[in-house]
Amino acid sequence: MTRAQTGHAVEVRDVWKSFDLVATRQRHLKQSLVDLLAGRREPRPRHAVLRGVDLSVARGETLGVVGRNGSGKSTLLRLLAGIYSPDRGSIETRGRVATLLELGAGFHMDLTGRENVEIEGIVLGLSRAEIHRRAAAVVEFADLGEYIDQPVRTYSTGMYMRLAFSVAVHVDPQILLVDEILSVGDAGFVARCHDRIREFQRQGASVVLVTHDTGAAEAWSDRVLWLDDGRVQSMGDPGEVVDTYLKAVEGG
Ligand SMILES: Nc1ncnc2c1ncn2[C@@H]1O[C@H](COP(=O)(O)OP(=O)(O)O)[C@@H](O)[C@H]1O
Ligand SMILES: [Mg+2]
Repeated sequence: MTRAQTGHAVEVRDVWKSFDLVATRQRHLKQSLVDLLAGRREPRPRHAVLRGVDLSVARGETLGVVGRNGSGKSTLLRLLAGIYSPDRGSIETRGRVATLLELGAGFHMDLTGRENVEIEGIVLGLSRAEIHRRAAAVVEFADLGEYIDQPVRTYSTGMYMRLAFSVAVHVDPQILLVDEILSVGDAGFVARCHDRIREFQRQGASVVLVTHDTGAAEAWSDRVLWLDDGRVQSMGDPGEVVDTYLKAVEGG
């Protein structure tokens, strides 16, 4: 496989994303009837979660993302993963993408862990023999014991993350998107996750790492992006960005 050594792995230009604000059912029903009788079609109120985000991630670069709760970090990652599409602007990713998103953003909850792993292989277009070889490796790394043949909905958060991480690392990603997962799970597994992410970094993969842990953001990232209320507040040297972010948070 040849990989270009220059250029961006991720390029985001002027991305906007809003969500419908869901009205309470009562208000919604009453208002709908009123609107119906009046022959009116009121636009639903919308909440702009990302407001003109620009960023790029170079090949081999790790970008840390910090910001208050609700600032749009997970939404940004879901856009990068292709789970959401932007209302405006463009997103380009170049290379195989693997994701480590929060609970519920990946697996079929009624299928077993093993079945989910096999489905991933089918989605990747692997042959039957490759699927079995890969599934064996994933299952071994996840180390879930008998739970690998139980429905995913019976998993604890830690177990879910083990499976998610195991699937992600076996995709051999060129772009790895990580949302707040390194704080979940037992110390041994977290250490293994760290080792594998370091390995991807050494192999030249790009990583986007969303984390509450500003220490980790500093330690892991080449640059840090501070997202505030859906806008890029600053992006650059990890120490400097984290310092200004922490000062802003402490200042209320
Ligand atoms: N699918 C959705 N529908 C409606 N609102 C959403 C949805 N996803 C996220 N939001 C809202 O977008 C805002 C940003 O959420 P999120 O991206 O999860 O922030 P963060 O990860 O930084 O805490 C929040 O106010 C959240 O309620
Ligand atoms: Mg989040």
